Amino acid sequence: MANIGQDEDFAAAQKKAEKLGAKKVFIEDLRSEFVEDFIWPAVQANAVYEDRYLLGTAVARPCIGRSQVAIARREGAQFVSHGATGKGNDQIRFELTCYALYPEVKIIAPWRVPEFYNRFKGRIDLMDYAQKHGIPVPVTPQAPWSMDANLMHISYESGILENPKSNAPADLYLMTKNPEDSPNTPDVLEIEFSKGVPVKVTNVKESTSKDSPLDIFSYLNEIGGKHGVGRIDIVENRFIGMKSRGIYETPGGTILLQAHLDIETFTMDKEVRRIKQGLGIKFAELVYNGFWYSPECDFVRHCIDKSQENVEGKVQLSVFKGQVYIMGRESTKSLYNEELVSMDVQGDYDPCDASGFIKINAVRLREHHRLQGLSSVK
Ligand code: ARG
Ligand code: SIN
Repeated sequence: MANIGQDEDFAAAQKKAEKLGAKKVFIEDLRSEFVEDFIWPAVQANAVYEDRYLLGTAVARPCIGRSQVAIARREGAQFVSHGATGKGNDQIRFELTCYALYPEVKIIAPWRVPEFYNRFKGRIDLMDYAQKHGIPVPVTPQAPWSMDANLMHISYESGILENPKSNAPADLYLMTKNPEDSPNTPDVLEIEFSKGVPVKVTNVKESTSKDSPLDIFSYLNEIGGKHGVGRIDIVENRFIGMKSRGIYETPGGTILLQAHLDIETFTMDKEVRRIKQGLGIKFAELVYNGFWYSPECDFVRHCIDKSQENVEGKVQLSVFKGQVYIMGRESTKSLYNEELVSMDVQGDYDPCDASGFIKINAVRLREHHRLQGLSSVK
């Protein structure tokens, strides 16, 4: 079992496994490596799938799978197993990770074994079976939907959420407050970045700060959660070829995305940024589809890493009523030249040059107009 920050009674889980006959139980605290090795690369990439989803489940799978196969190797186990269904993305992510890091491994995916899925049609059948065989499970399902929780987010799908038109009940959200009920005064944060990852977060009014990756991310979750930041309700395209409806809350990740975008634009060359933006979209797609451990993802990550060399400095922002408002930024690596851009001083710039620049750019437009004639103008 992997502890990646979900709210779970690990001691109870250990007891239950032992009671059911597990020979050995491994409960690994992966929280710090989850933040540093998986969430931070996603922050550097501004990784967003289909313009909205911050990939909280997708980045967790390679983290869990990596630890699972490390234990399997150490213990000399030939098989690994997981509980993902046969219809989703998670089966692909777990299994691609396991095959990539332990090529000889064999995988047991019960939801894809006919004897299993023919016998158990759904939760009710499983509850019956558990009760008959003395497997302790809550008598009623905790919630009429499927949840996946970790440090980065909670996702909700299936069950009553399958109808894409029906609204999520107000009490579904566990990580974030409803912005309608959130505090009427903002929290003001200063986030310091080095090489594209946060190294310190300071609450400006309270003069408190955090500086370890896990503490930083947990604190941003706390502040984002308090102000209702990072809720989305979307229909997305699964790798497997179907659309699914999902609800997500990613409070800390949403604050970091905004802050990182800001310091990145401030410190990165314009053309490098354009190329890097495309790589970020590619990275998000690879991670969503389960290809964290692939040559192409490795390549993309190296390029993104290189782009982050000078992404450093501080961003000040306020978090309020479900929103993140950037207030200012500073950096010793800034490419912003106040004198160059100022409307009050000339700087190292000759305005006459702009006439030629504009005229040259107009060559094509004038030709187009001449050839198409005036009639093309609406
Ligand atoms: N649709 C999201 C994704 O593919 C969330 C998956 C949630 N997984 C789960 N076991 N409930 O990343
Ligand atoms: C599952 O199918 O187990 C969860 C949803 C997904 O993997 O997309």
